[in-house]
Amino acid sequence: MKLTDTTLRDGHQSLWATRMALEDMLPILEKIDSVGYHSLEVWGGATFDVCMRYLDEDPWVRLRSLKRNIRKTPLQMLLRAQSLVGYQLYPDDVVEAFIGRAVANGIDIIRIFDALNDVRNMEVPIKIAKREGAHVQGTVVYTISPVHTTEHYLKTALELKQLGVDSICIKDMAGLLTPFAAYDLVKTFKENLDLPVQLHSHYIGGLALAAYVEAARAGVDVVDTASVPLAFGASQPPVETVVRALQGTPYDTGLDLHLLFEIANYFDEVRKKLGYERGVTRITDMWVFEHQVPGGMISNLISQLKEQKAADRLPEVLAEIPRVRADLGYPPLVTPTSQIVGTQAVLNVLLGQRYKMIPGEVKNYVRGLYGRPPAPISEEIRRLIIGDEEPITGRPADYLQPRLEAARREIGDLAESEEDVLSYALFPQVARKFLADRRAGKLQPGKMAAARKVSAQKEGEMKKVELKEITQLIKTLEETGITELNLESEGVKLAIKRGGGGSQAAAEGPGPLVNTSLPVLSERPANGYVEVRSPMVGTFYRAPAPGAPPFVEVGSRVEPGQILCIIEAMKLMNEIAAETAGVVVEILAENGQPVEYGQVLFRLAEG
Ligand code: CO
Repeated sequence: MKLTDTTLRDGHQSLWATRMALEDMLPILEKIDSVGYHSLEVWGGATFDVCMRYLDEDPWVRLRSLKRNIRKTPLQMLLRAQSLVGYQLYPDDVVEAFIGRAVANGIDIIRIFDALNDVRNMEVPIKIAKREGAHVQGTVVYTISPVHTTEHYLKTALELKQLGVDSICIKDMAGLLTPFAAYDLVKTFKENLDLPVQLHSHYIGGLALAAYVEAARAGVDVVDTASVPLAFGASQPPVETVVRALQGTPYDTGLDLHLLFEIANYFDEVRKKLGYERGVTRITDMWVFEHQVPGGMISNLISQLKEQKAADRLPEVLAEIPRVRADLGYPPLVTPTSQIVGTQAVLNVLLGQRYKMIPGEVKNYVRGLYGRPPAPISEEIRRLIIGDEEPITGRPADYLQPRLEAARREIGDLAESEEDVLSYALFPQVARKFLADRRAGKLQPGKMAAARKVSAQKEGEMKKVELKEITQLIKTLEETGITELNLESEGVKLAIKRGGGGSQAAAEGPGPLVNTSLPVLSERPANGYVEVRSPMVGTFYRAPAPGAPPFVEVGSRVEPGQILCIIEAMKLMNEIAAETAGVVVEILAENGQPVEYGQVLFRLAEG
């Protein structure tokens, strides 16, 4: 059996918030290249976005450097089908150009998955990747629901085979695949597909190791593992254990354990330097067996609920998630559907009424803009969410306008290459800032490492973090020009953001909760006006998109149901509508600025 190493992509995406920088990888690449892995997963997923957003690193430069230093082992990337490495669907011209440049810059194997197993979203990426000469791995996303049967997976895999994929991956992102189910699924695929089959599982509750052994017995060709300092917990099973488990069997990987331990020692030093924990399985992570809610999603829910000052509502949200998932046709809980389902469940619980507030993303999902849900959505739920609107029935990307030329014009000479244009087409705000900083010579690669050293020095005191230390850290941020700092030490998390409206800090964990107050807002009496308050903690936007005209101005007449603004919360855009007719007399929040729960956003003169 062969192994793929995911340390440089999924490993650190699962355990280190994707924060491993190129400089942390370079010294060990030659050794990894000499192991004899089937492939190294090094690019795609969240790495592209995080490179620019947090590491001041150009993802394309990273890919070329990796290719220069890894000469023997094929390089693999994860591609979210028509969403590429982003969180929305992109038009075909962007998809075509992106895949072309990914292959030209060094990618050999492209693993393509769609969150809904909607093969229509994978058609164009597969066709282009094949044309560019990559090995194309079609993926079936594994989950548990009444419609996710062996027949469903086999049908999806057969459709992928018809599109000409070179191999098939079973993607078990939530660690739900039990050993015997793994045996049956792999066996079914091997008997019916005549293609290499690879299994990608996450350790989480510990099923993955046994699933790999059973998959080996069923004839799986490749499984995914990570170096032990970046294995276990939310990541892949450790390569060392898998190698040892199969030694002396017909499935022996033939890899050298001594060499693997040398590599593990290196990554453990990096881990200590950056201040991350090794992969652990918390009890909440194992709740996946009960609710099928992946651990990563539960930690997001916990932080969303804390943000909304409703951490005690978690059990209700966990009970609501399966109901929302059933309402929406059982989407697998993976990016972006995990956010769509999770946020709707949070809103249903917090607002005390199901579907009272519906984020734009949920509406678009029901409109069919993400693809076809695995099971049909009932008429009743559809009406509740999009009213009389008819969902689209075609391939979602057919409804998108080409984007590449407009992106090229918009970014202008800040783009110095076709790759820069693509970075901008995918992540307009993040890439514009990155490219502008690069032009101005303001990039600080390795800044995360520097910031973490500050945290390491303070490690002993972190549990008793006090306002004065946070103030000191904010000062450090201001001096270094870093805008965001996420620290974690021995279970204490500290997130500091520096925005236009001042600094804001919050610490969570066993220590005391500290929340410095936001800039003080107007507290004039309402004088009989109707006050529209923010239903959640988030960011206030006056317009549907940057550069678009605002929904309302002072003096605008509004009708009930008319959109007043958007509150971005929990990574989704939530439209806030007027509940009464009236005239806007005051707008009390700043565009693009954070707002608190209950903060007054508008005053309306009723009538
Ligand atoms: Co994964």
